[in-house]
Amino acid sequence: LITARTAMNNPLDDLSNVTQPRGVERLVRGIATSDGAGVKLTRVLTQDLQRRLDPFLMLDAFRNENPEDYIGGFPNHPHRGFETVTYMIAGRMRHHDSAGNQGLLGPGGVQWMTAGSGLIHSELPEQQEGLMEGFQLWLNLASARKMTAPSYRDIPSMAIPEFETEDVTRVRVIAGEFGHVAGAVQRPDTEPLFLDVHLPAGSRFQQALAPGYNAFSYTYRGSISVAGTDVPDRHMAILTNTGDGVLVETGQDSRFLLIAGRPLAEPIVQHGPFVMNTPEQIHQAVRDYQAGKFSAAAVQAL
Ligand code: CO
Repeated sequence: LITARTAMNNPLDDLSNVTQPRGVERLVRGIATSDGAGVKLTRVLTQDLQRRLDPFLMLDAFRNENPEDYIGGFPNHPHRGFETVTYMIAGRMRHHDSAGNQGLLGPGGVQWMTAGSGLIHSELPEQQEGLMEGFQLWLNLASARKMTAPSYRDIPSMAIPEFETEDVTRVRVIAGEFGHVAGAVQRPDTEPLFLDVHLPAGSRFQQALAPGYNAFSYTYRGSISVAGTDVPDRHMAILTNTGDGVLVETGQDSRFLLIAGRPLAEPIVQHGPFVMNTPEQIHQAVRDYQAGKFSAAAVQAL
């Protein structure tokens, strides 16, 4: 693991230029909804996009100033069959799980949780006022790993590899690789790329993307231009699958997530917090949950 903010050569030096930027296939605003105990959020990646954006199952964005819109948090609930990635921009969230683990997620930090065979956890705000902003991404597990033992990693902001380029573009490498920089997390099968990019006015950013990997961006400050298409604040851009990478330009200070991954091309059957490959596996998940097997699971902190 590369620790953050160590001196390093500009990782852009060795980046092969993107010669055929992927275009924007579709802009998505998402759906305003609430989850947990009344947390207001925008479901950006909805169930109807799971096949198109395989291996990603869900992206929620939350940005609430009013405590009434987040104070209830997400009390005890189960998960099975996939991974949850929580990325905080502002505010603090404490998590507890059925094995007695707990952790505090602060601004810039990530919790990467592999639900695997199943656990019960809660995610509750540790603040009474002020901005609560962040994201939760759901990443599928390959069928062979869906029943793996549950585990998680709390990654504080300081442990996320981050650097600035000469034009003061700031890139935080949460998962995958940017130039020579390995992200905080590497995952098999889905090989996710998860970057948080802060782009100053008048600058540009490029990133090579493996052919066939599904990819999208989500703008959460300012407005960016992806291969010539404007992608305003609070919009996801689903990228086409032709081309060798992504090219982003902006006329104003902007921030966006860039997320890509290798599709699993397996059946997806979701029932609430359970995502499996067949209806029978979903029935089994419900039976196991009702039988208390999730509460008994040992959850490892990795
Ligand atoms: Co959860």
